[in-house]
Amino acid sequence: MIVAANFKTNMTRQSTREYMDVLGAFLSKAQYDDTIMVFPPATALDRFDADIVIGAQNAYATRNGAYTGEIGLEQLEEFDINTLLIGHSERRHVLGETQEDIIHKFNFFKAQGFKIIYCIGEPIEIRESGSDALMEYLECQLDGIDLGYDGLIVAYEPVWAIGTGLTPSTDDVLLIHNALKKMIQRPLLYGGSVKPENAKAIMALSSVDGVLVGGASLKIDDFKSIIQSTDSRI
Ligand code: PGA
Repeated sequence: MIVAANFKTNMTRQSTREYMDVLGAFLSKAQYDDTIMVFPPATALDRFDADIVIGAQNAYATRNGAYTGEIGLEQLEEFDINTLLIGHSERRHVLGETQEDIIHKFNFFKAQGFKIIYCIGEPIEIRESGSDALMEYLECQLDGIDLGYDGLIVAYEPVWAIGTGLTPSTDDVLLIHNALKKMIQRPLLYGGSVKPENAKAIMALSSVDGVLVGGASLKIDDFKSIIQSTDSRI
């Protein structure tokens, strides 16, 4: 299983370090064979003495240069970071990234051999238009993305489930993940209001290879409890 924490615009350099100390100690005691990833804000990117993959929530498709406010490859290489979130719904819908921007970023970081967690997910009006419309929408978000790339991990995150406390039923998650698995033979995560109360049921689904956790990852005890749910698959 892959259990990933996306801090978004939360936490500081100091609180991230404290968090990583506690999480690292927990993981070394518990000996999970899961992959644990943390995506702190860019200002908290660093090296940590723990068996945790550190990834960037975003980066610009450049080594360096005149891109005010952005970070590029050079800033990630300083900490040996080679894992990146691309296509998150907040970047698509709040920050206006187009599929073209996303493809460009994907191809740049793919050429650098990055592990890419590529996020897709439908807004509520698409969900309400039925399953054909839903799958069509998700397929468009996969357009131009090399689904055979061996550094690819896909995260299915319905937009209406992110940060809302709402989740699709486990039957729906299974149905959509099964359909996606026909197109993508890579690890497939679920994201959107994952919390200690629902993590076990979600990760027990055969086509779920892990979870991407936003809000609930900010509380270390909740995130630990989600990690403890990984042994639920029968
Ligand atoms: P959430 O966010 O867990 O707060 O819903 C998930 C995400 O945006 O990756």
